[in-house]
Amino acid sequence: MAFFDARLLYLIFFLLLLLFGSVESTGNKAAQVCVVGAGIGGSSVSYFLKQLSCSNANVPCLNDILILERRSRIGGRMATVTIAGDTFEAGASIIHPKNLHAVRFASLLGLRPRSKSSDGSWFSVWDGSRFIFETLPPPPSSCLAIYRKIHSLVNALLIFRRYGFSLLRMNRFVNRMLHRFMLFYKEYESRPVFETVEEMLKWTRLYELTRRTLKEELLDAGLSPQLISELVTVITRINYGQNVDISGLAGAVSLAGSDDGLWSVEGGNWLLAAGLINYSNVTLHLQEEVASIAYDEGYYVISSTNGIHYNCNVTVIATPLDEQSISFTPPISIPSRKMQHTFTTFIRGLLNPKYFGLNRVSEIPNLIGTVETPEVPFSSISVLKKYTEDDMTFKIFSREPIDDSLLDQIFSSRKETIRIDWPAYPHYEAPEVFAPIILDGKHLYYINSFENAASTIETSAVAAENVARLIISRLSGMPLNMIKQKTKTTNPDIQHLDL
Ligand SMILES: Cc1cc2nc3c(=O)[nH]c(=O)nc-3n(C[C@H](O)[C@H](O)[C@H](O)COP(=O)(O)OP(=O)(O)OC[C@H]3O[C@@H](n4cnc5c(N)ncnc54)[C@H](O)[C@@H]3O)c2cc1C
Ligand SMILES: *[C@@H]1O[C@H](CO)[C@@H](O)[C@H](O)[C@H]1NC(C)=O
Ligand SMILES: *[C@@H]1O[C@H](CO)[C@@H](O)[C@H](O)[C@H]1NC(C)=O
Ligand SMILES: *[C@@H]1O[C@H](CO)[C@@H](O)[C@H](O)[C@H]1NC(C)=O
Repeated sequence: MAFFDARLLYLIFFLLLLLFGSVESTGNKAAQVCVVGAGIGGSSVSYFLKQLSCSNANVPCLNDILILERRSRIGGRMATVTIAGDTFEAGASIIHPKNLHAVRFASLLGLRPRSKSSDGSWFSVWDGSRFIFETLPPPPSSCLAIYRKIHSLVNALLIFRRYGFSLLRMNRFVNRMLHRFMLFYKEYESRPVFETVEEMLKWTRLYELTRRTLKEELLDAGLSPQLISELVTVITRINYGQNVDISGLAGAVSLAGSDDGLWSVEGGNWLLAAGLINYSNVTLHLQEEVASIAYDEGYYVISSTNGIHYNCNVTVIATPLDEQSISFTPPISIPSRKMQHTFTTFIRGLLNPKYFGLNRVSEIPNLIGTVETPEVPFSSISVLKKYTEDDMTFKIFSREPIDDSLLDQIFSSRKETIRIDWPAYPHYEAPEVFAPIILDGKHLYYINSFENAASTIETSAVAAENVARLIISRLSGMPLNMIKQKTKTTNPDIQHLDL
């Protein structure tokens, strides 16, 4: 096919230009692709770019990738804190078993799931004056498996008694979303490369879920108002710090975060990003904050706050731009978006039973979720680890910072307090509007436009994979599904997936 060959020649010519163009006389450092941010988005786009280009017979390998990260650590919103020698997830903590990119990354990198603590199941709902719902306290760990089975059965019955068949409808709602989401793992031959988030969502039939609130979607799905204002609200407050006014899609993703089989990476989820960067052998500059990005006929000049300049043929933004001061020349325009701040407070000490109207510490559940009411100053409190009966580590999520005087009411003793203010995820507002993926019509790409759909480790990886395919397909001028694989087995993890 002559047409095909001409395209191919153009591509090789272009990539040669990239290679030789990068040896420059201006004194600026140069790279084919520069990535801003070393979270899961930046690390996985680098991985996919390398993997796709270097395993492809018709595309020269994109060897020269540079990641610029303003912090001194990898991982972004995946981070750990250490208390009494134990590490705990401070940001993204749970991964769904159907998050196939994360599952594959972990297996590729030899990372193992963290072993689970067993008493996370003592769950309760607090309304500011009393526990309106509570499961049974966990059986002693020494007891027989049969008792543990009976115990979880009784808990299931307790939940069923309160919420009835609405629970099944909730399950169906979540499974329908998951089923559609799985289309993002289809093989390349039958999955297009997308230029906008809207296209991605429409192709998977998830778009309509971003147009209406979770509450509207669930009422239509036949859920009882009680389930929505209690359990569903509790879960969206824990996972997104927001209530059931978030979009149906963000809500469904949040609810999936209460499924069975959730896992996290032993040693910390940030090891996914660190492993991908190492595996892909990309260059990483830590403590290098991007201050400006200017387009200059064929490449971008990225300048850092340290005064270093980089010439990059392709630039990928892998961080939300909403609380940023990066200046763009020419200017870019994206819809305004507020980030929801989640204050994460770690406490080593002991809860005060009086605060919850109880007499004994042993009566306080291990996971305290809350309903939407101004009376409750936190979204959730959970036990992360019990050292002894009066020495434990807790994690609190709240929308506002929790000051010492409030902590002194909630806790009877505190040995250690760690506070983190995360610009955590978008403040979701249906109908959602999405920033472009291609910011300037050229080679400036934005992964985090996808966060308005839902913000998770996996959705970042899904968005990053699409950006990598988009870059390669636009550089080569061919749709990616026309580019043949070198051999069918070079990339088995992506090619052979049964849905
Ligand atoms: C408290 C909390 C709980 C969460 N829980 C979960 C969960 O259980 N499961 C889940 O899947 N997801 C969860 N999430 C969401 C998840 O963390 C994010 O969706 C995901 O980590 C986003 O990854 P990212 O790479 O897109 O962005 P980020 O992780 O934010 O990475 C962006 C990187 O860019 C860097 N950067 C920013 N500006 C510049 C600049 N100018 N120059 C250079 N570098 C820059 C930042 O330092 C950062 O390292 C949670 C988030 C929070 C905050
Ligand atoms: C980095 O990757 C190489 C292979 O590319 C591997 O041998 C090595 O163990 C990795 N190191 C870390 C710290 O993951
Ligand atoms: C990693 O990259 C460096 C520099 O780009 C190169 O010299 C080296 O051979 C690469 N190693 C692997 C395993 O790809
Ligand atoms: C790539 O960037 C360099 C500057 O680093 C530039 O000289 C070259 O022309 C660019 N190549 C292409 C194909 O745009």
